[in-house]
Amino acid sequence: MAILQQSHGISGDLTDCTAKLDSLEFDDIQHFLMARPPARAARYEFLTFGNPAGGREWLTGLIDKVGTASAVGSSLLDARWVTVGFTWNGLQTLGVTEASLATFPEEFRQGMAARAGVLGTTGANHPDHWVGGLASPNLHAIVVLFARDVAERERCRGEHERYVAQSGGVEVLSALDLEAIPPFDYAHEHFGYRDRLSQPVIEGTGVEPTPGSGLPIKAGEFFLGYPDEEGPAAGLPQPEILSRNGSYVAYLRMEEHVGAFRDFLRARGETPEEQELIAAKLMGRWRSGAPLVLTPDRDDPKLGADSQRSNDFNYAKMDPHGYGCPLGAHIRRMNPRDTAVNMNRRKMIRRGGTYGPPLPEGVPDDGIERGIAAFVGCASLVRQFEFAMNVWANDPNFHELGNEHDPIFGTQDGTFDMTIPKRPIRKKIKGLPAFTTIRGGAYFFLPGIKALRYLASLGAGL
Ligand code: HEM
Repeated sequence: MAILQQSHGISGDLTDCTAKLDSLEFDDIQHFLMARPPARAARYEFLTFGNPAGGREWLTGLIDKVGTASAVGSSLLDARWVTVGFTWNGLQTLGVTEASLATFPEEFRQGMAARAGVLGTTGANHPDHWVGGLASPNLHAIVVLFARDVAERERCRGEHERYVAQSGGVEVLSALDLEAIPPFDYAHEHFGYRDRLSQPVIEGTGVEPTPGSGLPIKAGEFFLGYPDEEGPAAGLPQPEILSRNGSYVAYLRMEEHVGAFRDFLRARGETPEEQELIAAKLMGRWRSGAPLVLTPDRDDPKLGADSQRSNDFNYAKMDPHGYGCPLGAHIRRMNPRDTAVNMNRRKMIRRGGTYGPPLPEGVPDDGIERGIAAFVGCASLVRQFEFAMNVWANDPNFHELGNEHDPIFGTQDGTFDMTIPKRPIRKKIKGLPAFTTIRGGAYFFLPGIKALRYLASLGAGL
């Protein structure tokens, strides 16, 4: 089987379909948050509907192509995986009533661009600089295509182009092509970190959490209409047919400044070993994936590649002061594990991949945009995604650090620091540069299949 080379994918596959519990409606849930496809290429298309009827007509012909959770692992989905989602403006344009639209959460109604204050996306990360029409109210829908390889992606691209041309008033605002970067035998991103190591397991999918990953999380944390970690499903957008089995996803296109990142490591570390250690301190894992808590002084690539061991750690007992993994390192912020409360209500499912060509080692930055274009899936954008952005990534005083943001993707303008606790004297990197820039983002609702049919049928008989 082809090797998945997506950054921020799922860590466990739905290998045993028979182990799935009946209670999750696998036929109705889009496959997107349920499993990671073995894809080496992808394309995201951002669409606008010129008129309601054209949008519904487009959707009608697309529904049968959308992958469901029940088809995961079957031959039906062996080459391409299609996902479709809508912004609040998109739902409105398709003809969802104002009464129904008012039952969707406020943050989704506003959209990601309007939430810049909450998210901390200021300066170069601000929506004023976003590309591809992502901050525009005319952004109505996204189609995500994961494809086995580039040839399959190109075939699908051509097919969708012809299809859109026939659908009245539907236009592609922008598109992004993604490809895995070599070597293809493990998932990693442009800075060279192994990715896709940690991911919540959803209760009822039959996937076993790896050691140290905690118990499976209630499905209602990711899919609307199911009990969540607090109890029975509550506050579903109406009508229920529209919201049940749906999820929200926050999309982020994040440019990675690989040249600046490598320059920084070279400037701060005298030897290659020191440079690797600094890279590890920023992330909380060595580039091989090995966690600093388990191997603080030297890399252990075998540990990084071993999914049964690479998450088997905590912070409170094993590294309370951050001598191994700094309190402000990316993975310690994005999942503080046993050092934060309510963690089961903050879990996120990550999907996505790398875009742009890899920058070969030893070559100066070529100015070509490259990065990660990722989705964070959840049942509550405000409780899960926005909390992570607001508190974990961009609150300067998170963990009482005083003047720090996430070193990997927090908003950085050269005025924030990074503390690396160390005996006897801790080290402080003053004025961390920005290694990434958010180039765009949006909130989408991924409806279940019945909900897609409901949306396609709106206005029928008028
Ligand atoms: C360019 C930006 C980013 C890069 C390069 C990056 C890279 C990584 C890498 C290499 C890992 C370690 C692999 C793993 O644990 O699966 C990781 C973990 C993680 N990242 Fe990111 N990431 C980025 C942005 C984000 C964003 C925007 C979010 C969410 C808002 C996020 C949330 C997480 C989470 C939840 C983990 C898992 C932590 C754990 O469970 O220990 N990351 N990231």
